[in-house]
Amino acid sequence: MVDDSLPFESSLSSKSDSPLEEASPVHPIDDKLLIESPSMSRRQLLNFLTGSVVAITAVSVLYPGAKFFIPPSEENDSGAVLAKDIHGKPIPAQQVLANPPGTRALIAGLAGEPTYLTVQDDGTLSEMGVVDNCTHLGCTFPWNEVDQQFQCPCHGSRFAPDGSVQRGPANRPLKLSRVWVDGDAIWIAPWNDIDPRTGETPWWVKNPNPSQPTDAAKTELAKEMIQLNESLSVATTQLSPNQLKQAAQAGYRSVLNLRSPNEPGFLDNEQQLVESAGLQYAHIPVNPAQITDPLTDQVLATIGQLPKPILIHCKTGVRSGAMALIFMALNEGMTADRVLSISKAVGINLDAQPQIKQFVLDYISAHSPTRTTV
Ligand code: FES
Repeated sequence: MVDDSLPFESSLSSKSDSPLEEASPVHPIDDKLLIESPSMSRRQLLNFLTGSVVAITAVSVLYPGAKFFIPPSEENDSGAVLAKDIHGKPIPAQQVLANPPGTRALIAGLAGEPTYLTVQDDGTLSEMGVVDNCTHLGCTFPWNEVDQQFQCPCHGSRFAPDGSVQRGPANRPLKLSRVWVDGDAIWIAPWNDIDPRTGETPWWVKNPNPSQPTDAAKTELAKEMIQLNESLSVATTQLSPNQLKQAAQAGYRSVLNLRSPNEPGFLDNEQQLVESAGLQYAHIPVNPAQITDPLTDQVLATIGQLPKPILIHCKTGVRSGAMALIFMALNEGMTADRVLSISKAVGINLDAQPQIKQFVLDYISAHSPTRTTV
């Protein structure tokens, strides 16, 4: 509502009865002015044209050089971003290309994803950026120059220079980003075309919106878990109620508990927690000092029956790792030597309990269809 007492209102009314007319400086065009001053118009026109020519010439000469010094926008319309360093500053291409062929440079790429760039033999950058995120459970990994592999420290997955899987438990190639250099800028864009390593649509395009809870839960659980294959994982600790819930979100379908109820830290309501998370639960107490063939037969039969993938746990992962390794060895025809090398690679420390290690070797030797020996 307008207040009549406002100063603005009162000042207008005091100047004129017709405020618009009073305020407007615009007057009708005076034809006489144009006719009487033709030389002014010509001069203005000449000045304008001369100025335009000079400006166009200057821009065409200076633009290529100026473009080099003007930092490009950090994201383009197609979703590509500039490669950045750890401080979030764009990395000049010269800085990466000054390195010898074969160098892997780790930069922050799309959405800040750590991404490896490769300097090729001809001194250019490979168009394939390899995302530093293990396809097993999301750990980051270094490039091993000697072995020419990306080697995941969490559970021993190995990837070729192009990100193909060379050894599991990871079973998908590493995600790619598209890389190119423009001037001194390195651009990173999503790789949505056929994956050259598989000849198929990339897995990250087929499933562009993986379940966030699942991936987050997997990443969280990865710290406490060893995945041996698609069906079997071993926890290296007593899982907390929250981790049991995460196991369900991460896609596990059952939990096998090998702890005795009298062990410190035994979770009395574990069965209830597991089942209320929608997983199947089995409990077979395995005393490390009293592992027998019949008890092992029972554990192996239970592993065979539970819905997969199964998360097996004890207190430190040695008992559960031993049982999972025996199951794998007998089902996949592995030698005892192979079992030992896998246990070392994935971090199941059988040497911590020599009697369990010996039991594993003896059991495999006695029950393997090929009667393999150490
Ligand atoms: S997270 Fe890389 S091997 Fe498990």
